[in-house]
Amino acid sequence: MDKLIIQGGVSLNGEVKISGFKNAALPMIPATILAGAKYRIENLPLINDVHCLISIMEQLGSNIDIEEDGVVNIDTTDIDECKALYENAGDLRASYYLLGAGLGRFKEVEIAYPGGCDIGSRPIDQHIKGFEALGATVEQDETKIRCSADRLIGTTIYLDVVSVGATINIMLAATLAEGTTVIENAAKEPHIVDMTNLLNKMGADIKGAGTDVIKINGVEELHGCTHSVIPDQIEAGTYMIMAAATNGNVLVKDVIPKHMEALTAKLREMGVEVIEKGDAIRIKGGNELKAVNITTLPYPGFPTDLQQPMIALLSVADGISIINEDIFEGRFKFTKELVKMGANIKVDQTTAVVEGVEKLKGTTVIGTDLRAGAALIVAGLMAEGQTEIKDAYHIYRGYEKIEEKLKKLGAKIQKVES
Ligand code: EPZ
Repeated sequence: MDKLIIQGGVSLNGEVKISGFKNAALPMIPATILAGAKYRIENLPLINDVHCLISIMEQLGSNIDIEEDGVVNIDTTDIDECKALYENAGDLRASYYLLGAGLGRFKEVEIAYPGGCDIGSRPIDQHIKGFEALGATVEQDETKIRCSADRLIGTTIYLDVVSVGATINIMLAATLAEGTTVIENAAKEPHIVDMTNLLNKMGADIKGAGTDVIKINGVEELHGCTHSVIPDQIEAGTYMIMAAATNGNVLVKDVIPKHMEALTAKLREMGVEVIEKGDAIRIKGGNELKAVNITTLPYPGFPTDLQQPMIALLSVADGISIINEDIFEGRFKFTKELVKMGANIKVDQTTAVVEGVEKLKGTTVIGTDLRAGAALIVAGLMAEGQTEIKDAYHIYRGYEKIEEKLKKLGAKIQKVES
């Protein structure tokens, strides 16, 4: 498996351009099943999860052409059913968006059970609750899920848990249902708004995205469109944390500062200089980082996807930080790798207590999931000596050209393919 080797102690300086948002891009690709048509999606991050979903769509019969600058042309005219029992459907979580799109278009869909980062139980009961409320029958076993319906009839669905995936999946199915669907307690993430903008460009009639009540008036049919993906708030946050960790001076470009507010506030609390400049944010790392407390919450709260990189930063902050991970119960597993580097972290179920140490020391560590890998890069960039990160393939699922971007900022990082 690929590994990354990092020589620590180098301050990052310069500019980094943020790619399109992984978690906005992933549902957009299966959404093109909702109408057999031609689509042009711009600013798509060419990361492994996107390539995996593109290959599933090609196996379903779509023609996809990737232009080098992240422009992808998708033609779904020839797709006449949605049966994705391919094993790569189990390689990522976002394959479950095929359910909402396939059910909406064909009134039946069958996919292999979705995979994704090992950060908790990750049930899909709220997705199923939504599909059944619309009139679908859902059958599942440990290998696949099948949904079918004679008709999809709009209704009101109250989500028991604020779920990004369930909100988007129900929206996908409801766009072509008869009548109006209202999703109560909906997720408000920026990618919900971006996804809604794409669907409305396709002819859907959706209002309220970005609030906790989303109304979808079903329409007869949809059509192709062109859309550009918003910048990745999690990739941007990761580079902001890396700049702070190395006491660097970095301009993070192509961001939407509003989406970064929770992280910006915490970095400023730690003593980091954060300067917002239109569609860019400059980070000037602080010599003395202060400990802070964090609770992960749905947007606009502190994003769970930045909890892991942030714990790496807090491991050398001055004082004790308390982190509550209220979204994914298994998201602290990676801390044992930071402890190998000399961090002082104690975990009790969904709470981690981090007592800052002077410095981390490079060693060999394992990236157990996508954001754990990012956290270990943060740690390796600031540690003394060399850090070797094994199982680096997780990182390539969600960070486009990460070594290239970091090398441009002065980092000493090398990928070793095995
Ligand atoms: C999406 O996962 C993202 N993945 C995750 O990013 C992100 O951490 C998460 O949203 C929260 O923002 C993609 O978009 C591909 P949820 P998702 O449904 O949709 C519970 C990354 O690093 N829940 O919002 O799976 C669930 O267990 C990845 O890029 C149910 O109980 O997250 C969790 O506690 C990791 N039943 C909470 O809701 C359900 O039916 C939020 O999950 C669905 C979810």
